[in-house]
Formats: sequence, structure tokens, C-alpha cells
Amino acid sequence: MNTILVLGAGGQLGHCLKALAERTGMKNVLFPEEQEADILKPEALSALFNKLRPAWVINCAAYTAVDKAEQNEETALLINKTGVENISRCCEQLGTRLIHISTDFVFEGSDVRLLTEMDEAHPVNVYGATKLDGEKAIAMILPHYFILRTSWLYSEHGNNFVKTMLRLGAERDSLSVIADQVGTPTYAPDLAACIFEIIRSESEAYGIYHYSNEGTASWFDFAKAIFDLSGTTVNVEPIPTSAYPTPARRPAFSVLDKTKVKNTFNVDVPYWRHSLERCIRNLGIH
Ligand SMILES: NC(=O)c1ccc[n+]([C@@H]2O[C@H](COP(=O)([O-])OP(=O)(O)OC[C@H]3O[C@@H](n4cnc5c(N)ncnc54)[C@H](OP(=O)(O)O)[C@@H]3O)[C@@H](O)[C@H]2O)c1
Repeated sequence: MNTILVLGAGGQLGHCLKALAERTGMKNVLFPEEQEADILKPEALSALFNKLRPAWVINCAAYTAVDKAEQNEETALLINKTGVENISRCCEQLGTRLIHISTDFVFEGSDVRLLTEMDEAHPVNVYGATKLDGEKAIAMILPHYFILRTSWLYSEHGNNFVKTMLRLGAERDSLSVIADQVGTPTYAPDLAACIFEIIRSESEAYGIYHYSNEGTASWFDFAKAIFDLSGTTVNVEPIPTSAYPTPARRPAFSVLDKTKVKNTFNVDVPYWRHSLERCIRNLGIH
């Protein structure tokens, strides 16, 4: 049976891949702990690859603290670039196919139009720059890879916007949420399903793909939907980005065009609000 190795298994997407693999009886997917699969320890990583000889690697390991990355550029670069180089070299040695997760934050997002895989990346923050460096490292080392760029990931697991809003909504009577940054929330289990679908397809249409949920929303729209669907009574005020300064700049409009992933793999791309409804139901809130 072809082994699929998941790196960064302890994170949000790693959890969702594990839940889906367990639910669908995929016994060939391995989820080692970070100590066993530290992407910054190339020798240990190579030994793990040699032991497991995976046909596929799904890399979910990343430095994802967008604001902290502005101060911790060295660490972000180490994990998002050097770590990805280490993985790519192991894949190259064994002919392992890599699925790597990247981000809409590789784009500047200053135009109001859908972003395709052909659009030039131009990150506006350190996190985005290091993720782009990771993408470039893969392309330098590996002939065959899939890079999936996604956006605004959330789920029942880990820390994310949905869980933060539900917590704040329970604590406060009113909240201010940014209304002039537009993107698409992505339910991590939907992305997990897309990843397994790509593997199942045995497709050799390697390259970069965009995957988020369908539709567009501002953070304000997203927050309103979270409160509507969970039955939380809280007053939500729309505010401009300028009223909520953060260390990292963010793209104003980063809606990903999913045409390529849909046409190539025939994957299901649910509308963001429908997936949010599923998440809230799974959290046992409504
Ligand atoms: N979250 C989003 O909104 C979002 C949006 C677009 C794209 N993405 C991308 O989607 C992917 C998955 O994101 P996520 O939300 O699942 O992130 P996450 O929850 O932060 O998970 C990342 C995982 O990588 C682990 N990790 C860090 N350094 C490592 C190392 N040296 N070796 C092995 N593992 C290491 C982290 O462990 P520790 O917790 O111990 O550090 C964590 O478990 C990432 O590539 C991210 O860039 C995320």
C-alpha cells in the first residue's frame, strides 16, 4: 500500500487530514509527532523517509503566526523556506511526490479581481515572503510537486478566526471587525478532502493550484455569519483596516480563482457559508 506521510500533523490542517483519514479508513496515512518529524532536522527527516519510504508527503508544517513573523523573520524563514528545502531534498532522493500548502498571502491583493495561478506573487508581509520562498525552493529542487495555495483557514481544531469570534461573542456585547479586507474563508476539512482527491486521482498535472471555499467575504461578513449561524447575540461594527493596525500588512483583496483545481481534479468546492454552517454544527453550538 502506498504510504502517505503528513508533516506538521499536530496543526489545524494536520488534525483535519487525520480525522478524514480515520473516518474513511485510510490506514496508509501516517501522522508522526513533531519530535519524530522535525523539518528543521534534515538527517532525522531523511532517516524517517528512508524508514517509511512514502509515496506521498503532505506538508502542513509551517510558521503561521503572521504578525509575529514581522519580528521573527529568521525563524519564519527557517521553517517556511529551509524546512521546505529539507523536505524537498528527501522527496527528491526517494521520488516521493509532495503536496505542499501555501497561502493567498503570497499576493499583494491590491486589485479587486480573482487571483489565478498565473498571477505574479508579490507578498506584502514577512510571512507571505517566506511562504513564497518555500514555493520557489520546491520548484528549484523537485521536478514533480503540487503546491496548493489556500486562504483564511478555520476548523474545529486549533486557533482560528471562528473560534476567536465565538469566544469574544460570548464575552462581549459588541465587537469591531475589519470590513475592507476581502477574501474567502476555507473550512480545513474541505481542503483536506481536496488533498486526498488529488492523491487519489494519480494525476501528473503537477504545479501550483488555488483552493479556498467558494464566494467572497470581508472579515466583518465572516464574523456576522459566525454569529448568525451560532445564534450568538452581539453587536458587530464594521471598521476599516486603518482602525485596527497590526504589525503585518495584509492583502486588501485576495480571492483565489479555483477554475484550475476544479477543472483538473473535479473537486467539490463548497460555498463558504455552507461549510461554516457545518463547522458550527460540528462544534456543537447550533
Ligand atoms: N491558518 C490559515 O489561515 C492559513 C491560511 C492560508 C494558508 N495556510 C497554510 O496552511 C498550512 C497549514 O496551516 P495550519 O492552519 O494547519 O497551521 P498550524 O495550525 O499553525 O500548523 C502548523 C504546524 O506546523 C508545525 N511546525 C512548526 N515548525 C515545525 C517543524 N520544524 N517541524 C515540524 N512541524 C513544525 C507546528 O507546530 P507548533 O505548533 O509546535 O509550532 C504546527 O503543528 C500552512 O502551510 C499555512 O501556511 C494557513
